[in-house]
Amino acid sequence: MSANTAPHRKRTAVLISGRGSNMVSLIKAAASKSFPAEIALVLSNRPDAQGLVTAKDAGIATAAIDHKLYPDRESFERALQALLVEHNIELICLAGFMRVLTAWFVGQWSGRLINIHPALLPSYRGLHTHDRALADGVKIHGCTVHFVVPAMDEGPIIAQAAVAVRDDDTSATLGARVLEQEHVIYPMALGIVAAGQFSTEGNRVALTTQWQAPQALVAPAVKS
Ligand code: GAR
Repeated sequence: MSANTAPHRKRTAVLISGRGSNMVSLIKAAASKSFPAEIALVLSNRPDAQGLVTAKDAGIATAAIDHKLYPDRESFERALQALLVEHNIELICLAGFMRVLTAWFVGQWSGRLINIHPALLPSYRGLHTHDRALADGVKIHGCTVHFVVPAMDEGPIIAQAAVAVRDDDTSATLGARVLEQEHVIYPMALGIVAAGQFSTEGNRVALTTQWQAPQALVAPAVKS
């Protein structure tokens, strides 16, 4: 390797099913040559996903594999896997990818497959997280980036962000504030994983870089 060789940036695929705002946050972060991952492919199970258009406009390779054209989950995933291998993908980010993945697929990508979920896991796995958080009356809600394991919305947590729930929040207003934080922590988590700046022990992910725990988020904030 010559002294001028740029450090290897992990070839990352982003899997989407819809609008792709998290995908955009990853593309933006990876636009910097010093970011340890490059977005090499955006893949959707829905050919009409808005995010595919956005990615294409950003000059990223895109592909659609319509799950409806496959008789079962396994044959769909085999097609997915073939494309990922063809593009020499090293890391996968699920970003609003609304298909449950089998243990076989997850096993192929163990430790190299991450997901963003719109809740503070392990609370509110599954769908409609903001509605359920509001119905429960929680005061703090948020989002999580985690390694994917076969059980849905489980797996070692890499990063979380919390927001205070306001008295007048609706699912839409709360979801919008959570989404803003998703766009902060997902690029950060991808950077950490791509640079290998972490170690894992059981469910705990520890960073091998220096970081400072912020002040507590208290809701409602106590008036002084
Ligand atoms: C995001 O809020 C993401 O956390 C959520 O879907 C949304 C996709 O939005 N993911 C899940 O619910 C996965 N279980 P985006 O397409 O604008 O990134």
